[in-house]
Amino acid sequence: MNEFLAAGYKKDLVLAALEARKNAYAPYSKFAVGAALQTQSGRIYTGCNIESASYSPTICAERTAVFKAVSEGYKSFRSIAIIGGKMGEGGSICPPCGVCLQVLLEFCDPDTFEVLLSQEDFHTRSYLLSELIPEGFRPERIL
Ligand code: THU
Repeated sequence: MNEFLAAGYKKDLVLAALEARKNAYAPYSKFAVGAALQTQSGRIYTGCNIESASYSPTICAERTAVFKAVSEGYKSFRSIAIIGGKMGEGGSICPPCGVCLQVLLEFCDPDTFEVLLSQEDFHTRSYLLSELIPEGFRPERIL
């Protein structure tokens, strides 16, 4: 069991995820997620989940952030903060789905990239990407 870090760890990144969560478009699940992705150069790209009436086009907050960054030419990342929960409630620990973990694995070194799962009170758990997806299909297999 991963212990909580001292409250306030990487607060700027967590705050950015909390802010992004406010823009979640989730009328179907009513589950709002925010993410903030930090590039190796220190820039922060945020994302929220965006749902669709036909459901399958729905995109998670994490992938929104990754695709925004990559589309602007940033492909090296240090960490991501994620916060989610029922709309109208304070956010809590929201681990990324398998699809988002696969997308993170495309661009991030699993042994150094840090995934921060936060609560609204700024208590945060920290994982390496490799802990969340230990035997993932890595790009190196086919490159
Ligand atoms: N969702 C995310 O945005 N990120 C996650 O890590 C888990 C799930 C979204 C997808 C969907 O809009 C809603 O949360 C409920 O699954």
